[in-house]
Amino acid sequence: MQRALTLTATRRLAVRRHAVALRFRAAAAMSTLLVSRPQYAWLKELGLEEENDGVYDGRWGGGGEVVTSYCPANNEPIARVRQATMAEYEQTVQKAREAWKIWADVPAPKRGEIVRQIGDALRKKIKVLGSLVSLEMGKIYVEGVGEVQEYVDVCDYAVGLSRMIGGPVLPSERPGHALIEQWNPVGLVGIITAFNFPVAVYGWNNAIALICGNKLSISYDLFTFVCVCVQLNRIVANVLGQNNLPGAICSMTCGGADIGSAIAKDERVDLVSFTGSTHVGKQVSLMVQERFGRQLLELGGNNAIVVFEDADLNLAVPSTVFAAVGTAGQRCTTTRRLMLHEGVHDAVVERLAKAYKQVRIGDPWDRNTLYGPLHTKQAVEQYLAAVEQAKQQGGTIICGGKVMDRPGNYVEPTIITGLAHNAAIVHTETFVPILYVLKFKTEEEAFSWNNEVKQGLSSSIFTKDLGRIFRWLGPKGSDCGIVNVNIPTSGAEIGGAFGDTINYSKDLPLAQGIKFE
Ligand code: UN1
Repeated sequence: MQRALTLTATRRLAVRRHAVALRFRAAAAMSTLLVSRPQYAWLKELGLEEENDGVYDGRWGGGGEVVTSYCPANNEPIARVRQATMAEYEQTVQKAREAWKIWADVPAPKRGEIVRQIGDALRKKIKVLGSLVSLEMGKIYVEGVGEVQEYVDVCDYAVGLSRMIGGPVLPSERPGHALIEQWNPVGLVGIITAFNFPVAVYGWNNAIALICGNKLSISYDLFTFVCVCVQLNRIVANVLGQNNLPGAICSMTCGGADIGSAIAKDERVDLVSFTGSTHVGKQVSLMVQERFGRQLLELGGNNAIVVFEDADLNLAVPSTVFAAVGTAGQRCTTTRRLMLHEGVHDAVVERLAKAYKQVRIGDPWDRNTLYGPLHTKQAVEQYLAAVEQAKQQGGTIICGGKVMDRPGNYVEPTIITGLAHNAAIVHTETFVPILYVLKFKTEEEAFSWNNEVKQGLSSSIFTKDLGRIFRWLGPKGSDCGIVNVNIPTSGAEIGGAFGDTINYSKDLPLAQGIKFE
């Protein structure tokens, strides 16, 4: 008996010791989180805790894997998020479908009013959210703020639309009949969003889907940029709460590929919106297609700038720097191929190399910085592999090509010349700041090189020739969704994100008020 008691006491003590040790370890781990450091007090003001709920269906939760979000500028842990279990996913979808019954009855202009309030709430937090984007994603502060601005702009746009959406009334051939094209909500929209624009991508989907009367279920994922997402959902949930609307109208399930696949395969998800890599997009697309579901894909881009001999180089050079170096090459609209007419090739390469040397590299949240880290260590590996392949395929490195000797995922912005226009690496979209410079002779050649890649997202020419501009915009010109003249491939305005923009001035103002000088 005595022995048994002693044993029990010893065991208890051992357990207590273990618990103390665990708590001690947990405390030690906690103290290393950026959210708990005095200089990051603003994160707490924003509502971020050491451990955060990654599920929202009207109530906050998260019983799944706990993931840590790291700052790409120093690889230090920011905070942790509890992801969704499959059971929570199931419950969230059910609650979202229930909430739709209320939301679908709200008149569209009133739905617009909710979106207006979301826009206003974002305006109040634009700087602090921009800072969080910068800290967690790694893009520079002005670009972080810029993408919150994109969400605000889309809210304004959606508010207007909420009083305008509708189809035509057509003349019917039968007497006493009205032929009406009426637009009804599609239902539940599942959004799988991307690391590189954690606010804007969610925002575009959210604002437009809401005024159309859809409700949303969102999965955030893969590259752990969860802090921004949790904060964003909090802002949206507050607005819904203040208007006595069910929070499940905008629900959230943070998770990885398991949750993403569940959304793609789920017949209750009426439309799946996926933004991310072409590779993953294809998998998602096939899963949605398998069940004849609706889908909206925003995938890669292997975008080109074409500079003709008559171009204003004072526009072409800074445009290329912004589009190739900005966001450390991690936009779907980033310029990856630069086609230079043989008459300006050497001069432009020289000016670019000089400009690249002046790009201010540093902490992304430092207001003076123009260039920050890549988002993940994996991306650094992809960068190194691409540089290696480019060398093997005959490329010459003009500048960059190396990982930087500093904490965080920093690589040198890189220019590579001398590759064939159809070299395998030139046709590969690597989501890093590598610019392949190609030399061309004729317009025909340049236009066909622009179109020969599989990813036709964005494109730009620099020229003053009016005929060439219209040939570029026309059926035998660029085959991309975005067809620009005298502006960069990246940095589209929300109003005509997929369309044409012509710059007929001598200046280069950037959309969303971004300054990149
Ligand atoms: C993206 O990289 O996924 O045009 C979107 C741009 C931004 C959007 C980029 N407005 O560069």
